[in-house]
Amino acid sequence: MPKTSVAKDRILTGMRPTGPLHLGHYVGALENWIKLQAKYDCHFLIADYQAFGDYADNIDKIRDSVIEVTIDWLSVGLDPQKTTFVVQSYVPEHAELSMLLSMITPKVLIDRNPTLKAESLLQKDISLGFYNYPASQVADILLSRANLVPVGEDQLPHIELTREIARKFNRMYGEIFALPNALLGRVPRLVGLDGKAKMSKSLGNCIYLSDDAQTVEKKVKKMFTDPTRLKSTDPGHIEGNVVFMYLDAFYPDQAELKNLKKQYKEGKLGDVTVKGILTEVLNKFLEPIREKRAYFQAHPELVREALLEGTSKAQKLAAHTMLEVRYAMKITGYEDIKNIKKIISK
Ligand code: TRP
Repeated sequence: MPKTSVAKDRILTGMRPTGPLHLGHYVGALENWIKLQAKYDCHFLIADYQAFGDYADNIDKIRDSVIEVTIDWLSVGLDPQKTTFVVQSYVPEHAELSMLLSMITPKVLIDRNPTLKAESLLQKDISLGFYNYPASQVADILLSRANLVPVGEDQLPHIELTREIARKFNRMYGEIFALPNALLGRVPRLVGLDGKAKMSKSLGNCIYLSDDAQTVEKKVKKMFTDPTRLKSTDPGHIEGNVVFMYLDAFYPDQAELKNLKKQYKEGKLGDVTVKGILTEVLNKFLEPIREKRAYFQAHPELVREALLEGTSKAQKLAAHTMLEVRYAMKITGYEDIKNIKKIISK
């Protein structure tokens, strides 16, 4: 029987390189990506152009972070043999497609984007580039010809926008883009150490994938627990208790965890003990990641290879997409000059 090969669905997703990755990134994205890479043709984008929107005054930070994020990805087990790592700025076609699509993107659609709305409330002076980021994400997705984009429910508007722009492009210039679909995942959110918001570097409430064992211990000691509990023999509350939220995310045995919660509620388990348990669980989880990190730090050539090989593959794909896009949009370079006489006499 002839061998038939079925092309795998392609996924594109990404992160902004704005600093080291933390447990929130792991629970919210990386854990899922590791599973996806076995089944799909995954393209993981390090969106450094997008990071310029926030850090145009500190490009060095972004440059360092591209490498940091790559090492974080490799350390958690994203595998460049199975997937494609892409640095956005190494593929200039990202900027070109983003600019071209911005010409057919209605401004009202950007104004309506919920993520951007939320961000503009936080920062008063957003740049034009930052404002354009939902449209530039559309370009990221369409450039790679991905048909699936893993997102949490809160990110669905981004996919809607992508479909809308792709549809409009196809209508105006011809069928070039397939419409991508969202690959819905749960939206696990890890609160910060203070329990107040999600883990975020700017709030200083993170445990990083690169933290050593003592740092993790120190940070867990500072974690919020149950403010109503004065003595360790008082009945404790699980709800809103940061230590238990982390145990929910990382404790390997759910039945055992249920038992710990019961004891805590009955006042039989003190905060110091639960924090000790959490420190141990987190360090056990982080230890293999630390080992891999040390390995990649000792072998920078592997990090470089992952970036160069992935990017070169993505670049070929991007060049191909752009050929089709330019042709469809009649961006024909020297053709105008060749036809100069015909154009003048029109
Ligand atoms: N905006 C994403 C983040 O906040 C990164 C990103 C850039 C992305 N381009 C993308 C995600 C395309 C999904 C699809 O980290």
